[in-house]
Amino acid sequence: MKHLIDSSDLSLAEESAVIELALDIISHRDAYREKCRGRKLATLFYEPSTRTRLSFTAAMMELGGNVLGFADAASSSVSKGETVTDTVRVVSCFADIIAMRHFKEGAPLAASHYATVPVINAGDGSHAHPTQTLTDLLTIRREKGRIDNLTIGFCGDLRYGRTVHSLLRALSRHSGIEVVLISPEELRLPEYILHNVCERHNMPVSEVRTMEEVMPRLDVLYMTRVQKERFTDEAQFERLRDTYILTPEKLSSAKSDMVVLHPLPRVNEITQSVDSDPRAAYFRQVENGKFVRMALICKLLEEADATMKPAAAQQHENGCRCEAMHCSNPVCITATEDVAPLFHRDENGTLRCAYCEASADAEAK
Ligand code: CP
Repeated sequence: MKHLIDSSDLSLAEESAVIELALDIISHRDAYREKCRGRKLATLFYEPSTRTRLSFTAAMMELGGNVLGFADAASSSVSKGETVTDTVRVVSCFADIIAMRHFKEGAPLAASHYATVPVINAGDGSHAHPTQTLTDLLTIRREKGRIDNLTIGFCGDLRYGRTVHSLLRALSRHSGIEVVLISPEELRLPEYILHNVCERHNMPVSEVRTMEEVMPRLDVLYMTRVQKERFTDEAQFERLRDTYILTPEKLSSAKSDMVVLHPLPRVNEITQSVDSDPRAAYFRQVENGKFVRMALICKLLEEADATMKPAAAQQHENGCRCEAMHCSNPVCITATEDVAPLFHRDENGTLRCAYCEASADAEAK
């Protein structure tokens, strides 16, 4: 693990090691206070964030390190037209590790090809959010005592919700997980995740339209916000925004030990009256995000100290270069930056852009 761009960059053993380290940090806070003394984390946030950016900042501070970066690309030389790839080459001169959030899918992957320090994907468009996944896994582990043999309901915007995509990828490697997808037709999980992640790994999946019909069966209910910023049709957003609202009444049919998660921010999808229910774990989930990011920073710096090559640029280790093709996804990083086209075949043989996972077969001759 040199970088963390996608949940699948971690083997199951590495994922488990991060979770175990986070649990040790929780139990022995003082032992980690000097762990990153003299090290610097750069937070490069091209898209708004409260939890992810501040929890990375708090994590590095609790490890005794320092933090630099920007919370708004408009205050950096990005506003003058500097590319992501140039930005990370520059920031690699100042920091030991980079956490990047970007509205373009694949931007952190492109960054990892040019940075000489580890890059962590802190969320790229609708694509992936692997550190939220580690947060979610640690929370499930602490709340339920295990990350297997659970029935987990995902409710809301499963189309654009990157936290759902990343968490499903991670859960598909655990045993005994049954998934219930609860969404309107327009916000269904993308087919490629349904096939390549759920079906491919024999993870049982069912789809329903209401949370009430499955509530009594669930061990975990993962609520999500309808992602206004990803819609191109505002009328469609207005029609779908309040499809699901979790209330104490709806929770009354749930198991007494069911856990309600939400990556936050919430808008309307969970009423505040649910917050005092002991099953509402979403604010505990926020704090877990800091501990798991502390663990991840420690692991990535350890690995970088041992193995990082001086020039990571141009390695393109996770795909084949394919100069004659280009990705047709308008929100892929390749649409705006001059990064080398990179495609790979997924488990089903479909040719996909390595940055955003859009299918390229339509373009292939
Ligand atoms: N969960 C999450 O990513 O929150 P932020 O957008 O506030 O970072």
